[in-house]
Amino acid sequence: MPENAAGDLAGQVALVTGAASGIGAATARRLARDGATVAVADINGDGVKAVAEDIVAAGGAATAMTCDQTDADQVAALFADLEQLGQLDICVANAGWGRYGAFLDISLPAWQKTFDVNVTGTFLVCQSAARRMVELGRGGSIVVTSSCGAVNPVALFSAYCSAKAALNTMVTVMAYELGQFDIRANAVMPGVTETAMTEALLDSGARDYTLAESPLGRNGRPEDVADAIAFLAGPHSGFVTGSSLLVDGGASTFSPGWFGADFRERHRANWTPRHVQWTGRPG
Ligand SMILES: NC(=O)c1ccc[n+]([C@@H]2O[C@H](COP(=O)([O-])OP(=O)(O)OC[C@H]3O[C@@H](n4cnc5c(N)ncnc54)[C@H](O)[C@@H]3O)[C@@H](O)[C@H]2O)c1
Repeated sequence: MPENAAGDLAGQVALVTGAASGIGAATARRLARDGATVAVADINGDGVKAVAEDIVAAGGAATAMTCDQTDADQVAALFADLEQLGQLDICVANAGWGRYGAFLDISLPAWQKTFDVNVTGTFLVCQSAARRMVELGRGGSIVVTSSCGAVNPVALFSAYCSAKAALNTMVTVMAYELGQFDIRANAVMPGVTETAMTEALLDSGARDYTLAESPLGRNGRPEDVADAIAFLAGPHSGFVTGSSLLVDGGASTFSPGWFGADFRERHRANWTPRHVQWTGRPG
């Protein structure tokens, strides 16, 4: 963390969803280090309790809140609880869910869960946050965790990429409508980041390919994305709204991504990770 960023958020209250692990937990820790009081929310109650305890043990201020963001009643209860913290300056709508599978195979329940968690859940959280911010009249900053797949969709992630593309569009319209209340809305689009969400896939052999296709030579860390979220949440991005920021180490330059197929064998596409090898020869 840059030294001059410390304390930027002193006196502010932030909500971070999906904060029991990965990017959300790193973001909660980062915003707390920057001085915010953080409401750490997730469907995983034990997870958020542990993260909040860590933050407090490190000298920060945090409260754990359990919420399934696909359930409108639970989101309403979350925002009722948040009123105990007084104001709400920052909302990081980060919780998400995704699985990969061929378009021909994806089941309706998997498609629906992808949209329920990523789109409907994020909508419920962002709408409640925006309403609270308008009511309080202090402005605010909303950051949504989208994905590089929103703008560079990859094979086998049709539901996930479609859902994240919907979030980018939602953020654009939120920025347009909420600017008049001094509420900014932006998205981060992480690339492959080492978290619980990607662990099994990366461990099954995909890591070799994602590393080969990362210009910076590594996968993302939760803290990389947390840094970008902290920028968009805080005062140093005061004139930034309606933007979607890639935080992917340049991996999107390899679009359409790390699953490829040889289309010379029509109807027998065998989707395998695609390794682009630099031969050292000029084209
Ligand atoms: N890891 C990556 O490579 C990657 C890349 C692009 C985008 N993202 C996005 O980053 C965000 C964070 O994911 P992560 O990588 O840290 O994974 P993660 O699995 O560590 O974190 C996701 C969190 O969301 C929570 N969650 C899931 N469903 C929920 C619900 N219904 N209500 C409330 N919380 C719920 C989970 O309990 C979990 O703590 C997600 O939106 C994900 O789509 C991740």
